[in-house]
Amino acid sequence: MGYDLQMRVWRGDATGGELVDYTVPVEEGEVVLDALHRIQATQSGDLAVRWNCKAGKCGSCSTEINGKPRLACMTRLSTFEQGETITVTPLRTFPVIRDLVTDVSYNYRVAETIPAFAPQPRPADGAYRMQQVDVERGQEFRKCIECFLCQTVCHVIRDHEENKPAFSGPRFFLRYAELEMHPLDTNDRRQLAREQAGIGLCNITKCCTEVCPEGIHITDNAIIPMKERVVDRSFDPVTWLGRKIFRRDQLEEAQVPQGRAE
Ligand code: SF4
Ligand code: SF4
Ligand code: FES
Repeated sequence: MGYDLQMRVWRGDATGGELVDYTVPVEEGEVVLDALHRIQATQSGDLAVRWNCKAGKCGSCSTEINGKPRLACMTRLSTFEQGETITVTPLRTFPVIRDLVTDVSYNYRVAETIPAFAPQPRPADGAYRMQQVDVERGQEFRKCIECFLCQTVCHVIRDHEENKPAFSGPRFFLRYAELEMHPLDTNDRRQLAREQAGIGLCNITKCCTEVCPEGIHITDNAIIPMKERVVDRSFDPVTWLGRKIFRRDQLEEAQVPQGRAE
């Protein structure tokens, strides 16, 4: 049965804004994005909201709903009490363009800094082979829809714009881990993960994992193993001694990880 929903929606732009109250008729089974679209259609035609698939797969409709980062198209109104006011605000970690639309280009700039997949040469029979466990790990990581909810919730950059140049954020630790743990990849990104991506600033609070709409175990399956690899490379006593004795290029040659190209 339908009812009148009370909504508060942030309206404004880079220069400032405010929460605006709306009363919008909604139907059973609808989601927050439906209510925003009805506001657009009947009350505020100029309300800016980014969306595309309405199926939880494009990652466009990320907003903060009652203070929690969520996909507007996947948040059912039935999640809330009927008399409850639902407050929708833009992602806090990124600059507002207008209303609920933010400029997430920081993420694309970070993505460009990660060295791409570099496969080892094919074996003589031409067939790459991988263990099933490696296939499944890659499949989990590649479920990412780049909604950047994990990025917006991460306290390292949420209220600390100054940390952004030195911190890639959980979505990109996931990307580092995906490539770094790929058994056919030949690049070594461990130093970059430490020095460029700032993985050391992550203190494993797991907030990113909690908001991921794809249920990816970002912290346990990507960040922690990646941290271990970075520590192994940086602080392993044999590696340290090797650096003292050998030239860097000789050492890198001797450090080709197991399962990678010779
Ligand atoms: S676990 Fe690390 S990356 Fe994830 S939200 Fe916490 S500090 Fe940020
Ligand atoms: S890891 Fe999850 S929360 Fe982060 S961008 Fe990908 S899908 Fe979104
Ligand atoms: S509109 Fe595509 S994820 Fe919500």
